[in-house]
Amino acid sequence: MLQALFQSWDICNRPVLVRADLNVPICNNTITSDFKLKAFEPTLQALIKQEAFIIIATHMSTEANSGALLSTQLLIPWFIRNGYPVSYVPDLPSARPDSNKRIILLENLRSFPGEQEGSVEFARALAQLSSYYINDAFGVLHRSDASVVAAPALFDVNRRSRGLLVDKELRILTPIKVAPKHPYLCMVGGGKPATKLPLIFDFLSLVDTMVILPGLSNTYGAALQQPIGNSSIDTQLKAACLKTVYNAQHTLILPIDYQVASKAISGTTRMSDVSDVRRDDIIVSIGPKTIALLQAPITHAHTIVLNGLPGFAAFEHTQLATKALLTSVTQSTAYTILCGSDSIASAEKYHFLSQFTYVSTGGGATLAYLAGKTLPGLQYI
Ligand code: 3PG
Repeated sequence: MLQALFQSWDICNRPVLVRADLNVPICNNTITSDFKLKAFEPTLQALIKQEAFIIIATHMSTEANSGALLSTQLLIPWFIRNGYPVSYVPDLPSARPDSNKRIILLENLRSFPGEQEGSVEFARALAQLSSYYINDAFGVLHRSDASVVAAPALFDVNRRSRGLLVDKELRILTPIKVAPKHPYLCMVGGGKPATKLPLIFDFLSLVDTMVILPGLSNTYGAALQQPIGNSSIDTQLKAACLKTVYNAQHTLILPIDYQVASKAISGTTRMSDVSDVRRDDIIVSIGPKTIALLQAPITHAHTIVLNGLPGFAAFEHTQLATKALLTSVTQSTAYTILCGSDSIASAEKYHFLSQFTYVSTGGGATLAYLAGKTLPGLQYI
């Protein structure tokens, strides 16, 4: 059962541990979209108003940052610029806020052994920092990380709560999960194939049309023995792709042509039918025939969920189809949901963000929730 929110707590000058999802896209040590930071502000401002001592704990994903385990120190300038006097702390013993340091930001949770393993020992160490726990990290509720599941379990039931962002995401996404308006179209691409592929299978029975975009479609192509050149795939997921394809009947659309780059993503590109991808090619986006193919399902849909845009954000010459797809989706009369940090960053860059009906901070978490999965992180909040 959901508990009341934290606003009724008497927490003046008491430390509160807040699990946030500040896993923002970062390029050359610079934040490329602060959407998630802004989405966290209502909870932060409420706690400041309650005069609490605030301990912010977040992960920054290696997958979203080319394998690098980034430090949360990169977020400090954003907080300062926006009027929040936040101090960075590198470890748990230093995470002791006081009247001189009212808001502290702990180092990237994933740099601590035990976080991603869901370790009870690490959860205990986190729980010792405070008697109060708030989870405002909607984007990570589909994971069983220590700070998401084992930690809240250790707090008194009246001293743990959802944050305002989690509350808002659930309020908006639940009606779509329970009774989406049909025709229902879901388009999924981008990275994190291990998270997304099993969810695509679940979506098949819920949607009218399921579209797989690059880079996820690369693994489908490989599983179907199509040429994919040097494009990156997850070989362990080929069987899961085939299972999806065989169960999909008429629901699934895979790209019929690609924009491919020769030898490197920065290289010269050309449009290629799926069967004509060459050995040295790298699939960078979808081609015009696929864009045309998607037009009818987009136009007829009443609900559209889009996660993982085609193209590589850092390479402008791969963004043609990205913009075309964003244009089609935002021109449709459907209820449109855009989700996932990288998709949000691209839509923001090309000024499409405000044209979506709803923008969700979650990527995998939003897909998992809409696919009807139980989110482990919701268990205690
Ligand atoms: C996201 O960006 O989807 C969330 O921050 C979760 O990140 P993760 O997939 O690395 O857990």
